[in-house]
Amino acid sequence: MTYTYYKNIFADMPLPLAYIDRDLLDKNITTTIARNGTSKTIRVASKSVRCVEMLQYILKSNPTFKGLMTYSASEALFLSQKGFDDLLMGYPTMGKQEIDALCQVIKKGKKIVFMADMEAHVFLINEIAAKHGITAPICMDIDMSMDLPGLHFGVWRSSIFTPADVEKFVKTCKKYKNIELIGIMGYEAQIAGVPDAVKGQSLKNGLVRLLKKRSIQKLATFRQQAIDICQKEGINLTFVNGGGTGCLESTTQESGITETTVGSGFYAPTVFNHYANFKYEAAAGFAVQIVRQPKPHIFTCLGAGYIASGEIGKAKQPLPYLPNGAKLIDLEGAGEVMTPVVYNGNEAITVGDPIFFRHAKAGELCERFTHLHIISQGKIIETVPTYRGEGQCFV
Ligand SMILES: Cc1ncc(COP(=O)(O)O)c(C=O)c1O
Repeated sequence: MTYTYYKNIFADMPLPLAYIDRDLLDKNITTTIARNGTSKTIRVASKSVRCVEMLQYILKSNPTFKGLMTYSASEALFLSQKGFDDLLMGYPTMGKQEIDALCQVIKKGKKIVFMADMEAHVFLINEIAAKHGITAPICMDIDMSMDLPGLHFGVWRSSIFTPADVEKFVKTCKKYKNIELIGIMGYEAQIAGVPDAVKGQSLKNGLVRLLKKRSIQKLATFRQQAIDICQKEGINLTFVNGGGTGCLESTTQESGITETTVGSGFYAPTVFNHYANFKYEAAAGFAVQIVRQPKPHIFTCLGAGYIASGEIGKAKQPLPYLPNGAKLIDLEGAGEVMTPVVYNGNEAITVGDPIFFRHAKAGELCERFTHLHIISQGKIIETVPTYRGEGQCFV
């Protein structure tokens, strides 16, 4: 896609604006299904989409997509009110009011599964579910990280690290009458979320790939052990969830896995530029306006300082995308209001023109814009609200 293509589409539109190029989104959907295969279904990670219409579009695009992984209890409630069903909460909640509201929705027949890894989670859900006279479904989150001397390769989330921890948690669940353990989730963040083909870092890339290979073997063994323990304890598992955009190739190799999760692969933000196994299209972007030109090759824009979450580093800043070759200035980066961009290329850009950027992360883009302009075949076909545009702000 070229600078002129997008510039023409958005001529006369007020800036800044955010867009989804649906032609490229469709390609990313096709790539995702090709990487996943069809033997496992794909749960859509809502945190990386954060727009009701886009979630509906992705779910309807192919039968391989089944259900959502939500990121907060209030969000799960909001989505169930919007008509979505089959919601797996990707993270635990300790919010009494939200659990109460979700139990009422479950009582009416919706499939909403709570995430848990501690007795405190189960205790609270059980207490509230009992009040409503229901049995609340639970998914056990098991830790997928690998500990090496001086390095915790993975994230700190679940407290279930070993087969003994799994057995203890399963036995704990069995004590409570108003919950039922029905699923396992193991999210291998160190495989899914760590780039392994960054330009100019061949030594580090090699090391990361080696660590990933070792870690994949270890976590596959643990995931299977957890399944076996559940079977031995008489648990009737209805799903085993794993993976994320960055690791479909390895997660889908495991016979015990029934479903994967994908979110970021649809919009394809810049943190997913550098993986050896796959390439996605830049389906999501935003445009800011050049309002100043302090030097012939410096174009200062209004806005763009939308920094992504996680460990702090340059990879978390948005990147100028088009015109090709536009760059941020190291000492300023993307600013709260002013963002200078250096450009020496062939496009004749000037004040009033847009510069197109890509966010480092997928869903966080939607926290900065009330609407997404959906474009296809050279024109805007629809403008839809983000969660923020619907007045929602979940975490
Ligand atoms: C529990 C869980 N599953 C899956 C994913 C994968 O999401 P994505 O495809 O957006 O990287 C994440 C992302 O952080 C996650 O936290």
